[in-house]
Amino acid sequence: EEDLGNSKSDGSSISSSESEVNTSDADKGKDKLGGSSTEEVDAVHLKRRVGLFSGVALIVGTMIGSGIFVSPSGLLYRSESVATCLIIWGACGALSMLGALSYAELGTMITQSGAEYSYFLEAFGPMPAFLFCWVSTFLLKPSQLAIISLSFAKYTVEPFIVGCEPPDLVVKLVCAATIASITFINCYSVSLATKVQNIFTAAKLIAIFIIICGGIYMIALGNVSYLSTGFEPFDPSLSPTTFSDIATAFYSGLWAYDGWNNLNYVTEELKNPFVNLPRAIIIGLPLVTGCYILVNVAYLAVLSPIEMINSPAVAVTFGARALASWAWLMPLAVCVSTFGSANGTLFVGGRLSYVASREGHLVDILSYVHVRRLTPSPALLFNTLIALLMIIPGNIGSLIDFFSFTAWIFYGGCMAALILMRYTRPNAPRPYKVPIIMPIIVLIVSVYLVVAPIVEDPQIEYLYATMFILAGLIFYIPFIYYKVPVKCMGPVTAFLQYLLEVVPTKYE
Ligand code: ARG
Repeated sequence: EEDLGNSKSDGSSISSSESEVNTSDADKGKDKLGGSSTEEVDAVHLKRRVGLFSGVALIVGTMIGSGIFVSPSGLLYRSESVATCLIIWGACGALSMLGALSYAELGTMITQSGAEYSYFLEAFGPMPAFLFCWVSTFLLKPSQLAIISLSFAKYTVEPFIVGCEPPDLVVKLVCAATIASITFINCYSVSLATKVQNIFTAAKLIAIFIIICGGIYMIALGNVSYLSTGFEPFDPSLSPTTFSDIATAFYSGLWAYDGWNNLNYVTEELKNPFVNLPRAIIIGLPLVTGCYILVNVAYLAVLSPIEMINSPAVAVTFGARALASWAWLMPLAVCVSTFGSANGTLFVGGRLSYVASREGHLVDILSYVHVRRLTPSPALLFNTLIALLMIIPGNIGSLIDFFSFTAWIFYGGCMAALILMRYTRPNAPRPYKVPIIMPIIVLIVSVYLVVAPIVEDPQIEYLYATMFILAGLIFYIPFIYYKVPVKCMGPVTAFLQYLLEVVPTKYE
């Protein structure tokens, strides 16, 4: 059912496997054939290599990263009671589900890869699309990659360092090495990257299953004292929950769920997207939501809320308490999980720059594809470069808050795009259509998520984020709107083309 590496299936290709020579774009091909094109020559473009299983893995395997193992403390702290906390986990899952279903409508209506970018382009025109691609390529995608790889590095280094915190420099070097290896995998072959994604997704689901079983076992033994406290505040000295507390609690939860829109970035590479995109979402999201709620129940069956809040990594504390001689499994699970999530994040991050550059919104070279490997290597390398720059000053906490605020502006924007297009393009084919109430709910919640923290607890970071978005106009107005040519770009592109062995692609 799954096809990993057989490119025949999209019907438009004459090459049978990735390793076979398939180097020519249409023109070059003609040269080689001495001008006669009796044989149809394939243009270089990304192939449809992602099947349903890999699609689900791309969603589930990216969503499950560090969040469920680390952020439960923050969410519990902000929600102040066990029941509120579990409800917020469920609500975050429901919100992501509604968002993802709405994205399924958008993704089957506009089949170009690139998710938000392509939908903004259709619904609102080039400027908002450009601002999104600007923020995404320079901030969101690399910061996601940096955050997840930093968690990976932290958990990999920790067991080797006894008696003190792992030195920052070591963690960052391991992080850089991780990002480099993931980049290599993705540049080497799309099939390899999807294989890595599938294997790591399966492994992390097994880890989650073990946590859940541990929890069930503890509950069966009668450990329900923490779970049964319900809405009682576990620490009466905490100030009562405010609206902005709830919004920030949502942010910690939503970080753990982030990645629900991942498959929309690669619709051009998905086999039978009209069926597989909605299907992968309908399988993936309930799976993740169920896992997350049960994992939290398991944590609370073993740890008291206060212990949970004070634990720097809940999963590891849980393992030490509940899994006895299997405790080593938890740090390993976090490593496996974050590595897979980082792989998925780079996979789709590369596609976004690729599509935006194809539209002329980023430098041309980013839309080129490696002649033999058929991977968008310039876009991948570019993403990596920015992520590496980010880890130099990077601190995980501040990166996450900054990230969610900005990301939800755009998720909300996509809901607005969906609603708007129901009016502006009422007759466009929509192979998968959601009830309009779904995007409306997500839109309202995203406005709340963005506005509540600003109103209740204004922080300078929000201003920076907004300024960063608007700073994109400095590039948009001269280079895209007025099309001012950049003279030195030609030779630079040509040089990079030789260096990286990449060629322009065709979108059909
Ligand atoms: N949800 C993931 C985690 O808990 C992070 C996913 C990052 N987002 C993304 N679109 N890749 O670590």
